[in-house]
Amino acid sequence: MDYVKQIGRVAVVLVMGIGVALPVMGQINTNYDESAVPVYQLPDPLVSRSGARVKDVETWERVRRPELLQLFSEQVYGSMPGKLEGLRFRVRSVDREALGGKAIRKEVTAYLNGKDDGPKMDMLIYLPADKPGPAPVFLGMNFYGNQTIIDDPGVTITRSWVANNEEFGITNNKAGENTRGVRKHRWAVDRILERGYGLVTIYYGDLDPDFDDFDNGVHPLFYKEGQVRPAAGEWGAIGAWAWGLSRAMDYLEQDADIDASRVAVMGHSRLGKAALWAGATDPRFALVISNNSGAGGAALSKRIFGETVAHLTTRFPHWFAGNFRQYNDRENELPVDQHELLALIAPRPLYVASAVEDRWADPEGEFLSALNATPVYRLYGKEGLPAEAMPEIEQPVMGTIGYHIRRGKHDVTAYDWERYMDFADRFFKP
Ligand code: GCU
Repeated sequence: MDYVKQIGRVAVVLVMGIGVALPVMGQINTNYDESAVPVYQLPDPLVSRSGARVKDVETWERVRRPELLQLFSEQVYGSMPGKLEGLRFRVRSVDREALGGKAIRKEVTAYLNGKDDGPKMDMLIYLPADKPGPAPVFLGMNFYGNQTIIDDPGVTITRSWVANNEEFGITNNKAGENTRGVRKHRWAVDRILERGYGLVTIYYGDLDPDFDDFDNGVHPLFYKEGQVRPAAGEWGAIGAWAWGLSRAMDYLEQDADIDASRVAVMGHSRLGKAALWAGATDPRFALVISNNSGAGGAALSKRIFGETVAHLTTRFPHWFAGNFRQYNDRENELPVDQHELLALIAPRPLYVASAVEDRWADPEGEFLSALNATPVYRLYGKEGLPAEAMPEIEQPVMGTIGYHIRRGKHDVTAYDWERYMDFADRFFKP
């Protein structure tokens, strides 16, 4: 019981028709006790809802994979639209001597509905200057603007809404000069370039500012006449971020300096959830990396360890499809679990990373999820995860699925990046 903590729950009560939101405090238990994990049964990714066992790739791709994709769309993340007609890109700058000559830096803006005054997404791209030929790249979203990932005066400071942050000196939801490089420890740009990769990053708030409303960001671009928010089976913020990653891919396919067949999509935490959803829905991502994505990402929901569905949908009501709320405290009724999200990425390489102190994200649940996605990789004749039990700390295991748990807290570290590149080297060989 020592491990069972209580955390505050903010329930939102809609006062009839007026739409006034009142915070009501309640309680959601958080289980950190392995012996209190309930007996749960994971759905078998290779048994369709009809009860038929999937025995070959053809049936998986024709029947079961679409069925799972549909369930995740309706019940978890919400359905995601395709690109908008008119989508266009403008290469705003190219510097072939950036970072003291080590890198080619590009800034590219995506006009998401084609209009100059419509929503835009800014991509910051670094490519290794000394490597001939199109580069393999890591693509990942950042939390506070592209300028925060590196000390580089040549990067445009985001003009989008950003969350206030005392540590970074962000007030009035505007990022300033003082935010350059404040998150650089999370982005191993030098090492990425040295190892022959490029990096593409996007500020996630360009797609949807991360608070509970649906008036801004990309959702309204798709509303039908009179619609003011997504329907219960339509996308939330995670869907919008994942959609943005696919729009970035639309650009990468056009850039001759980039090898679009070697793009690894990567994300941390909520952006790891988005990276997985992007990887599951868009097969153009050749490799997918989840860094501490936790609940609603790589971690199994039915274990009820650390963050739960109720925590997610109460604290971040805008992240998922409205339907996901039905499973608050009823994870056993979920028709899917997150190992099946990972299985949707098969046979493409997938890496899942945890951190020892990040118990909120349930490292064991992330590992078990990767392990239970393995049968689908095997169906393709791929290895999946070459482990049966959780590996020791900083003893990565790498097959077609890779996994490590490193020491330390919820974060992205140099250690994580080195492993991602070791893993990518096996498939991309820059
Ligand atoms: C919170 C949230 C997690 C999420 C994390 C993050 O901790 O509960 O689900 O992954 O924020 O994005 O940093």
